[in-house]
Amino acid sequence: MLSKIKEDVINMNSDLADLRRKSNVFPVIGEGSHNAEIIFIGEAPGRNEAESGKPFCGRAGQILDELLNSINLSRKDVYITNIVKDRPPNNRDPLPSEIEEYGPFLDRQIEIIKPKIIATLGRFSAQYILSKYGVTNILPITKINGKVFEVNGLKIITLLHPASTIYDSSKKKGLVDGFKILNYNLKHDN
Ligand code: URA
Repeated sequence: MLSKIKEDVINMNSDLADLRRKSNVFPVIGEGSHNAEIIFIGEAPGRNEAESGKPFCGRAGQILDELLNSINLSRKDVYITNIVKDRPPNNRDPLPSEIEEYGPFLDRQIEIIKPKIIATLGRFSAQYILSKYGVTNILPITKINGKVFEVNGLKIITLLHPASTIYDSSKKKGLVDGFKILNYNLKHDN
């Protein structure tokens, strides 16, 4: 059950969880439909997310909402989560050890939701999910934005991170195109 995952994250032993308890902020477990056909996976919560307990609620979240709207989806149609459920200090990149600690919670979420499509947002998420499903020789995220990997009937679509467009507006088109590919794959089961 997803509620059991939440309880396990709340009580987990890790440096980031200790920091969360000391700072009186929240873990970010995930949000959306438990029957979603698509699960979006980001990296880790930032300040806004840790303060509210909700994924993607800052600037990157606004961009994600716009992208979802562009393909006529809203948050309630999908499930949105991250690999790492607690905020790394100063928004630094998650450490490999943190990805290893939190990855099993994400694995359990995927097992429960059983999505048709996993859409990864950014390089950490792409790396984690592609490796989990046995894809090797993973290219940099800028080379695989909008690419579809099929593994045993599951589609994995690797997308740029929405935050990448904040400082580099040229990435926006790539992300919009990636969402079009996502939409096509959602509508066409083949
Ligand atoms: N960036 C992420 O990767 N995840 C969030 O929840 C917010 C920003």
